[in-house]
Order: sequence, then C-alpha cells, then structure tokens
Amino acid sequence: MAKDKTIYTCNECGGTSPKWLGKCPHCSAWNTLIESVASSDSPAKNRFASLAKTAEVTVLSDIEAQDVERTPTGHEELDRVLGGGMVEGGVVLIGGDPGIGKSTLLLQALDSMERASRNTRSAAGPSQGAKVPSGGSGPRAAGERGGFLYVTGEESGAQVALRSRRLGLDHSQVKVLAEIQLEKILATLEANRPDVAVIDSIQTVYSEQLTSAPGSVAQVRECAAHLTRAAKASGTAIVLVGHVTKEGALAGPRVLEHMVDTVLYFEGDTHSQFRLVRAIKNRFGAVNEIGVFAMTEKGLKGVSNPSAIFLSQHAEPVPGSCVMVTLEGTRPLLVEIQALVDMGGPSPRRLSVGLDKDRLAMLLAVLHRHAGVACMDQDVFINAVGGVRIGEPAADLAVMLSITSSLRGKPLPKGFIAFGEVGLAGEVRPAPRGQERLKEAAKLGFTMAVVPKANAPKKPIEGMTIHAVERVEEAMNVVRG
Ligand code: TYD
Ligand code: MG
Repeated sequence: MAKDKTIYTCNECGGTSPKWLGKCPHCSAWNTLIESVASSDSPAKNRFASLAKTAEVTVLSDIEAQDVERTPTGHEELDRVLGGGMVEGGVVLIGGDPGIGKSTLLLQALDSMERASRNTRSAAGPSQGAKVPSGGSGPRAAGERGGFLYVTGEESGAQVALRSRRLGLDHSQVKVLAEIQLEKILATLEANRPDVAVIDSIQTVYSEQLTSAPGSVAQVRECAAHLTRAAKASGTAIVLVGHVTKEGALAGPRVLEHMVDTVLYFEGDTHSQFRLVRAIKNRFGAVNEIGVFAMTEKGLKGVSNPSAIFLSQHAEPVPGSCVMVTLEGTRPLLVEIQALVDMGGPSPRRLSVGLDKDRLAMLLAVLHRHAGVACMDQDVFINAVGGVRIGEPAADLAVMLSITSSLRGKPLPKGFIAFGEVGLAGEVRPAPRGQERLKEAAKLGFTMAVVPKANAPKKPIEGMTIHAVERVEEAMNVVRG
C-alpha cells in the first residue's frame, strides 16, 4: 500500500494543494489551507464505485428500531446530560476551560462505571452465565472486551494516581495509559477493547502522518476522526476531552462538534464552587439539559436540587439586581441578573457576562423607545451571577428591570422575580412553562413577580403577588410605584 501523503485542503471550497499557501489557489480565500492526509487510494481507482451494488432502499416502518443501550456513569447529573449514560460506540466531546474539572469528573465517572461493572459481574457469577446489562455484549470471557481506560496526554501516570487518591479512589481498577501518539493509542484500544476510553485531551494527541504540531486544527481533526472510526468499529465508547482556548495556539473543540455524537460543555466560574455541564448536541438524548456539580475537596459532587445556587446573598435588596427564573432542560433555576449603569465617556461601553451582548443593545433601544429610559451616555454592564450562561430570551425583562433599577439607584422590591421575552415593539411575550417557573420561585420564598400576561396563572399561587403585563411600560410602572 502506498504511503499516505500530506496535502493541504481549503476550508472554504475543499480545493487541495500539494503545499501550504497563504491564499487558496482555487477560491482565493486567505488562510484557509489546512494540512490533511490524502487517502492512498487515488480517486481514479474508485471512479465506478458508485455503480457498485449499494444497500437496498427500505421502507422506514420495515426497519427494526433499536433502542440504544446505555451504561450509567454512576453520576446522576452526568447521566442527565448524556441522556441516560454512555452508549456503546458513542463518541462524546467534553469541552471547557482549563482547570474547570474535566479530568476530575471523567476519572470519577470511569471509576464508578468500573466498580459497577465489577459488581454486576461478580453478582452474576462466573458459572451462572447471567447477562451483563452494560455494554450489551453478554458475559465476557477472559481476554475479551472489557475494562475502562483513561488515556492521559497531559499528566503522567503518577499525577493521575495522585488525583485518584485525592478523590478517594484508592483501589481503582481503571486502566491508565500515558501516551500522546495516536497510532499507539489506537493499538492499545484494539488490544484492550475497553468498554469506555477517555482521551484527555484530544489536543495533546498527534498522528505521525501529519507534520503539524499537536493541537493544530489538522492534528486535532485527524486524530478525532481516527478515534471516532475506532469507536464505531469496536463498540468502545470514547470520551474526548477538549480545552476551550483563547484564539490561536490550540484548535478549539468546536472543530470536532460535527464529528461526534454528543457535545458537552462545562460552564461556570472556576472561582466559584458550582459547575454546569451543558449538552449542546446529543444524538442519544435531549439537548440543553444541564447537569450541576459542586467542586469539593473530594472531587465533583452532583447537585440534585440546584434551583437556588445562583442567587447571591443580599441582606437587603440592592439597586441593579433582579432575579429571574430560567428553565434549563427540565429544571427551573433562579439566577440573579446584575446591572451597573454608570456615567460613560464619549463612546459608552456595553458589556455583558453570561448574556448575549447584541441582545443587550437591542433591549437598551427598546427601553429608550418604549419606556423612556435613556442610557445613551452611560456605560452599561450586566452579569449573570455564578458564571452561568443564559441563552433564552426570557431573561429580557429581568435585564431591563435591573438596568432601570441601577440607573435610578433604586432597588427592586424584596422577594421580587421577573421573566419574559421582550419584542422590538415593546411587547412582552410569554416564556415556555411559566407556571413551573412561578411555582419554583414561590417555593423558594419569592413573593412578587412580573410576568408576561400569557404566563399569568389561572388560580393564584399562595404567597405570591403576580403582575401580568403585556408591555414594557407596564412592567416599569409596576416597580416605579
Ligand atoms: P481538573 O479536573 O484537572 O480540570 P481540567 O481537567 O478541566 O483542566 O482540575 C480541577 C480543579 O479542581 C483543579 O484546579 C483542582 C480542583 N480540585 C478540587 O477542588 N478538588 C478535587 O478533589 C480535585 C481532584 C481537584
Ligand atoms: Mg485536565
């Protein structure tokens, strides 16, 4: 077989070039050529491949639907975002800032899966031949597929061991491989055939076939593609860890999103105790589900009732703070939105952390036009407390109320919450599952709410005064009086 050759492929038009060029010779785009491996089979050989017999066309209802089997990770919050657990042959990408807890969580998960599988095997007994529920491969003979592998490219085996002691996993049977060369990792996967393998991190892995450095887009893509293929072929579930990095030095996990089955991202402030894991894409479950963890001295612990963790503690209400109820996946979360409006220079700044910046500009315009609140010459900063990212427009009303409150230097009433989407015409639109949000807020002791008219409950909620509004002006008037 001919040796694989390196070529450069354009990201924009797919054109190729035998050497790297700043400008694509086909579409003239700049900086789009990426190193890749040319397949050794020349396309000419396969010219008639499309005429060969292909799989038959089948009527959808005739295809037997198979529910995927899942191996729970032993961490309820992680299972929640995975859609129930690891799937045989599935590839999961976990991204997040360095130091947020990716390695910690995965080592914990591998260990508890390993324990669970050992318990099932010993419970089934060697002679009874009972089915092993996980993996779907039935009872295993010695030397057959099994085990849980942690491939570390960032730390040595000793460092991983140190971490596992710290996590209280003293007698862990998880296998560890300190290796960064793709070909060797693939050979180990082939030889060991583990149930689950974690590659920590994909940016440290490199393939001999490419000359570019580990972490470059070409390496990361090529290595992930090989590992994905290996997962599908062998049935091993593979978890790829990817660091989210500042522009430049390393390729971000984003370039891999289309390749894998499930994409999870860690969110949250590394300085705070809480971490969120959010599913961005999931071929085996719901997206936008979140898992909530607390970082303790013994690793990450799931938080099963997270609704109040993103509230900061003020003894008395302060100006510029408004609590909203957001619905993340299946659970409502109360999040404090903070705003600071302050005298700005000639070109005032608009900054937002955890909320969409363009949306902030739009809300300021609506606030001016429809409620007569002008921030033209003011700097406006907004922040969702606790490093949580809020994507849903139901935050609009809380953002506007906190801005108004900061501008006027007047706190919102005690025990106050608001949610609702605001349109360009100044109308307040309903948020999905408003009743659930209101009930959760009432449960946590909130007593006053401003909500969209369509979200007003049919029967009163005990202990809560609800102001249902149709327009932004009305919402502002509720808190002005
Ligand atoms: P780590 O899991 O290595 O993050 P990543 O792999 O995403 O880069 O580190 C998590 C951080 O958490 C690290 O700064 C140390 C801290 N930590 C704890 O607080 N408790 C623990 O039990 C462990 C293992 C780490
Ligand atoms: Mg790590």
